[in-house]
Amino acid sequence: MYHFAFNALLRRLDPERAHSVALRLISLMGRQPLARRLVARVVGAGRTKGPVLFGRDLSGPLGLAAGFDKNASAVAGLAALGFSFIEVGTVTRFAQPGNDRPRLWRLLDQRALRNAMGFNNAGADQVAAALGKLRASRGGWNYVVGVNIGKSKVTPLDQAADDYFYSAARLACYADYLVVNVSSPNTPGLRDLQAGPALRPILQAAQIGAARSLRGTNRPGPLPLLVKIAPDLPNAAIEEIAQLVVELGLAGVVAVNTTIDHEYGAGGLSGPPLKARGLEVVGLLRGVLGSSRTILGVGGITKLADVEEYLAAGADAVQAYTAFIYEGPFWPTRVQRPAPQ
Ligand SMILES: Cc1cc2nc3c(=O)[nH]c(=O)nc-3n(C[C@H](O)[C@H](O)[C@H](O)COP(=O)(O)O)c2cc1C
Repeated sequence: MYHFAFNALLRRLDPERAHSVALRLISLMGRQPLARRLVARVVGAGRTKGPVLFGRDLSGPLGLAAGFDKNASAVAGLAALGFSFIEVGTVTRFAQPGNDRPRLWRLLDQRALRNAMGFNNAGADQVAAALGKLRASRGGWNYVVGVNIGKSKVTPLDQAADDYFYSAARLACYADYLVVNVSSPNTPGLRDLQAGPALRPILQAAQIGAARSLRGTNRPGPLPLLVKIAPDLPNAAIEEIAQLVVELGLAGVVAVNTTIDHEYGAGGLSGPPLKARGLEVVGLLRGVLGSSRTILGVGGITKLADVEEYLAAGADAVQAYTAFIYEGPFWPTRVQRPAPQ
């Protein structure tokens, strides 16, 4: 049904228009308790059991990756569709429009996407308000929500730590975990922040911001803090980041972001072409991090076997974005459910 609709209609629609229509519908559905329950029932959400993530029992191993719900406007609806956790953002300190359009393209033959969005988002203050409202609503803490933070375009690279501090301080008290994103290819210079000397002060600033955010709440700290990395880093750099994660007492790593290793033009590529390197990076990280840190595996997950491969490579839980676009609203539950014997 979705495949039919996708082929007949959605693929003819500008990808960004299609995305915003879908997000609005999911957000709307999420606001109506009855609609939410009905949808969860129809797709079969919440019937599986998943791993424990940061002390929370997940309903399955699959979460929604960052970038789909940048402003935390559709968390309830996305959970009703079967995502066991939702990573919102990337959120930047300042609201910003992102890059000029077009900035999102489909590669239909590979079921992949290429994007150069550039962190279009409503900014930390507004997203904090949205999350505050969600958490204050009935059952609002039932959702497992990660908040992914990044650097605003206007902030010079050498002041990046201030941005991460601000966003962490505004948002951590609403989050189950926080992700420092230094790996998106569409903010000039951002990925240079993955190098040790630049990364250390940013991670420390986020830690201090998160601690400040939790103060005055009844939530025990420290809040789990992860760093999201690019697949294009050399292995040695990935191992260095993993060592820094251990040294600073971070909770873990999200691997991987989109790749710039492609010949299609600007922006980062996501979907199946990412999977092989994603698995490799997860395996590499697990080797350095040992069993005490969390790895969220992401990149090219399309079917249950992909989920299983990521878990076998060392991921504690997984995330996806691109396959959701191609496969539709029944996909999150389908991909977490073993096929009938
Ligand atoms: C349109 C689009 C926007 C994205 N925006 C973000 C973002 O804001 N922050 C982020 O950390 N990752 C972002 N990502 C990357 C995804 O979170 C994920 O790491 C990547 O797409 C690989 O997963 P996939 O193959 O399942 O899509 C975005 C991906 C896409 C396709």
